[in-house]
Formats: sequence, C-alpha cells, structure tokens
Amino acid sequence: MAASLKDQIDELLGKLNPGGIFGVDIGAHSIKVCELSGSPGKFKVDKFGAFVLSEAAIIEDEFQKPSEIVEGLLEAMKRAGIKSKTACLGLYGPNTMTKRLNVPEGTKEEIEDHIMWEAEQYITFGADESQISFHIIGENEGGGKDALVAAARTDVVESFSNILNDAKISPKIIDLNVIALSNVFEEVFRDDLEEYSQGSLIIDFGAQSTKVIVYKRGGPIFTKELAIGGGLVTEEIQRQMGVSYEEAEDLKTSGDDKGNLPEEILNIINTQVDQQVAEVKKNINFYITQGSAEKVEYCFVTGGNSLLPGLVEKLSAITGLEVKKMDIFPGIKIDEKKAENGLENLSAISAVAIGLAMRKVN
Ligand SMILES: Nc1ncnc2c1ncn2[C@@H]1O[C@H](COP(=O)(O)OP(=O)(O)OP(=O)(O)O)[C@@H](O)[C@H]1O
Ligand SMILES: [Mg+2]
Repeated sequence: MAASLKDQIDELLGKLNPGGIFGVDIGAHSIKVCELSGSPGKFKVDKFGAFVLSEAAIIEDEFQKPSEIVEGLLEAMKRAGIKSKTACLGLYGPNTMTKRLNVPEGTKEEIEDHIMWEAEQYITFGADESQISFHIIGENEGGGKDALVAAARTDVVESFSNILNDAKISPKIIDLNVIALSNVFEEVFRDDLEEYSQGSLIIDFGAQSTKVIVYKRGGPIFTKELAIGGGLVTEEIQRQMGVSYEEAEDLKTSGDDKGNLPEEILNIINTQVDQQVAEVKKNINFYITQGSAEKVEYCFVTGGNSLLPGLVEKLSAITGLEVKKMDIFPGIKIDEKKAENGLENLSAISAVAIGLAMRKVN
C-alpha cells in the first residue's frame, strides 16, 4: 500500500529536522520531556523540562487528573523550550511487559508469526487486546535468534496517547520505559558494555513503582515492576507527622528550613528504605544467588527515590553486590547550567526521558 501523503510529509519533515522527536515520560510524580542532539556516542541534552504533578494525579496506569497531566506536559515542554510536535512516548505499569524469546531462524514475517503464536502464553493481560512489537537482539547459541518482545494493552496505549493528542502532540513512537532505560544504559556504558553484558541489574526507584531490569547477553532478559517507591515514604511522613502531601515531599527532599533532615524524618526514611530494599531482594534472589545460571555482577540504580539517604548502601549490604548510581552524565553530554539541583539529581530523574528521546535516530 502506498504511504499516505501525511506519512510522506512526516517522513520528509523527520529527515529535514532529525531533532524533531522528543521523549515524554509521564511519571507518577512528574512529567519529564527531553530533546537530544547528536547521535549514538555523542548525544547531548539540548532541552529538558519537568513538571511535578499533584498528589495521586496518576494511580498505577490510570490518569485520575487528565487535564492537569495535559497542562503539565505543555508546561514541561515550555520550560524545556521544546517546540516539536512529535514525540516518543514511554509506557509502564502492570499492563505492559517484556519477554526475551528464542525464535527459530526465518524471515521477519516467520519470526513475527512465531512470536504472535506464543504470545498468548506469556502476555498475562490478554494478547488479543495488546499491541506487540519485537526487536532482534542477536544470534542464539543454539541456532535461531534472540528476540526482545514488548507488549502493552491497547487501552493503556490509547490512554497515554490521548494525553499527548489532547496536548496536540503526535506520539510517533511508542516505547516501554524499561526498554528506554536499557537503551540509556547501553549508550552511557558503551565502552564497558561487553563486561556489563555478563549480567547487570538496572533498578529505577520511582514514585509509585520500582522497575527492575536484568540486563544480560546484549539486552534485558527480565523486567519487572514492583509496587514500591518514593510515594510510600511521602505517605508515611504525612501520616506520622500530620502534614500535607506537599509538606511531606518538601521535608523528605529538602529537610527543614536549614536543609537538615530532622531525626523523625530520617527514622521514617530508614524504615522505608529497609523495607523497600528487602522487597527488591526478594524479587531478584534468583539473579544474585551464587552459582545461579543467570547470576548478575553489577547493579546500577536510578529514579528519584534512589536519592534517599542510605538506599545505595543498604541495597548493597542486602544483595552483596556493589551498587552504584547510574550516572548518565557525561556519557550523555549536558550543559551543567541545565541541572538546577545538580547533575546527580537530574541524572536520576531524567534517564527514562533521555532514553525515549534517543529513539529519534532509530
Ligand atoms: N532528593 C531526593 N531525595 C529523596 N527522594 C527524592 C528526591 N528527589 C525526588 N525524590 C522522590 O523520587 C520520586 C520521584 O522520582 P521519579 O521522578 O523517578 O518518579 P516518577 O518517574 O515520576 O514515578 P514512577 O517512575 O513511579 O512513575 C518521588 O517520590 C520523590 O519524592
Ligand atoms: Mg519513572
């Protein structure tokens, strides 16, 4: 079938304006948008903006306050100075998943048939109501190919896309946040990738969920979202201190008037961090057990909640792994002036949006 006129124009515009696609991460705590210049090996953050949402604007993958989210997206774009109208949109939540599959040799169509045929077995939220895509990672040792399948329930794709459409943005590429993170990881550690590909954990400690990625043999072999995150810490501060959501967020991230974390807050944080790292450990036991066939050696953390004091140390103690913050700069270049709260902070919250923005060249 001939490409429609609109597609031809879009393609032409894309060629003339390669920076045209920007990344959109509609996080439960804040919306992040990012536009990159450059190409693999020399990406630079040209534009980045964020907008912090109000309490419970998003619950799981449901938009409780859609008009605030649309306005927040537009405001984040304005802060970033993004004028583009085409985006790569990231999805997450319980109705999204990835699966690493061995597929027999064959044409693209044959591989696709194979993946669709098996999809019913592994897509727990209904293969028929889902959008499925895949990417060949490489050759498999036993012959055949190694594929990474990504799936999202159609209604989730639609509800995320509707936010963009309402903001007059066209979601030209749809991706999963966990895949975007894995792409950033590859980009930032391109020189050490062979080593890290032996087995690395990438853990995104977000507000409402914590995303675990086991990266091995050139891509994710396992991804999972756990229902823990920074929101639980905020809730506990609200409850114990009798303060509002905003006050609790402030106390947690900036401390008191002098910037110190009061003892009571520190105690709440410590208890929460203990619980959250224990929950992570339970879910990754298989990958950290000595002698396990899928053992990982490295662990990188990102996401706003990974900035909690003590989290890295406690995660390291409980897993026995050396845990590091996934510093994406200077692997990705940035003008330091863009990082109002410091590069470490920006690195933690921006990684997903940057990974989505990287799709402009794929
Ligand atoms: N400096 C900090 N110290 C501790 N916690 C922080 C800090 N900065 C942000 N956070 C917390 O991190 C969380 C936001 O992180 P992030 O932006 O990665 O989440 P999100 O992407 O919006 O949410 P999700 O990934 O769950 O959809 C919030 O709970 C916020 O309170
Ligand atoms: Mg997030």
